[in-house]
Amino acid sequence: MLDALAQLESTGLTDLTAAADASALEQWRIAYLGASGKMKAALGAMKDVPKEQKPAVGAKANEVRSRLEEAYQSRVASLGAAKPATPTGPMIDITEPGTMYSTGLGREHIITRVRNELVEVFARMGFSVAQGPELEDDDHNFIKLNIPAEHPAREPIDNFYIDDPASGKAHGPPRMLRSQTSTVQIRVMETRKPPIKVVAPGRVYRPDEVDATHSFMFHQIEGLYIDRGVSMADLKTTLAHFARSYFGPDAEIRLRPSFFPFTEPSAEFDMKIRLRPDQPVRWMELGGCGMVDPAVLEMCKLDPEEWSGFAFGFGIERLAMGKYGIPDIRMLYANDLRFLRQL
Ligand code: DAH
Repeated sequence: MLDALAQLESTGLTDLTAAADASALEQWRIAYLGASGKMKAALGAMKDVPKEQKPAVGAKANEVRSRLEEAYQSRVASLGAAKPATPTGPMIDITEPGTMYSTGLGREHIITRVRNELVEVFARMGFSVAQGPELEDDDHNFIKLNIPAEHPAREPIDNFYIDDPASGKAHGPPRMLRSQTSTVQIRVMETRKPPIKVVAPGRVYRPDEVDATHSFMFHQIEGLYIDRGVSMADLKTTLAHFARSYFGPDAEIRLRPSFFPFTEPSAEFDMKIRLRPDQPVRWMELGGCGMVDPAVLEMCKLDPEEWSGFAFGFGIERLAMGKYGIPDIRMLYANDLRFLRQL
């Protein structure tokens, strides 16, 4: 019996070494240590052992069983049999270089970028940024800009009114989507004392037919400088300096006499620029400007005997189209990434 137990131990250990994977190991466990395995059979045979040999045989049987159990446990640990079975599907080679799915980094829209560039150019000339609401009243959009009630620019057909423009003062001045950033000039002069030197970029709204150069919403940047003794020469110098800073040292400007109700004298501001090396130099119209009308200063409670100033307003889309050679304003709003990624 002792020999049989020694034999069981040695074949058990040999078979265990041969069990190379988790399922072979499990089969070994069933064959040797299972409920009807060889170990159990050997212990069952104990009843036939003569009484005086029982202690020795029993001790040997326990010894063999614990050796086999220990050997089994350490084999389980080294084979990792407790882990999930090896996957049968295709293996992933984690050393392969990955696929670069480029979702691309987001960036500023071209209009935002041009607006920021303009603000920066004017900041270098000492202008800070002012803001006003897009939902305005006609006091700021028209009346204090010297555009009286009977002026054709106030026609309901040419503006996005929220209130009936005839509703009058009883309910407060009628509200509208502002049609120009000149409103911000008034808001700043009403609340600050000169010297004032601000630019105001922002959206404006007009019910225009949409085509290559018109949109019902676009952006303007307004400028206002109020101080003692400001002259038309200061205006022209500022605009020339702006044009050269933004469009390059070749940029030339010209002022053409014009009319705006809130400036006197008023001018249209053109710039001569070669946009691309392969194109001829040409004049481009950028916006309006002039000396702030004394009537406007008075409506904002500034004494025209003491203060004078200039103002200007440009279309931001126009500047962007000029600078980047964009032929159609609608491209700026279509959100076509093939276009936007070129800028
Ligand atoms: N607000 C005018 C427009 O929308 C542009 C303009 C003209 C602004 C002359 C000014 C200015 O500040 O002085 O057409």
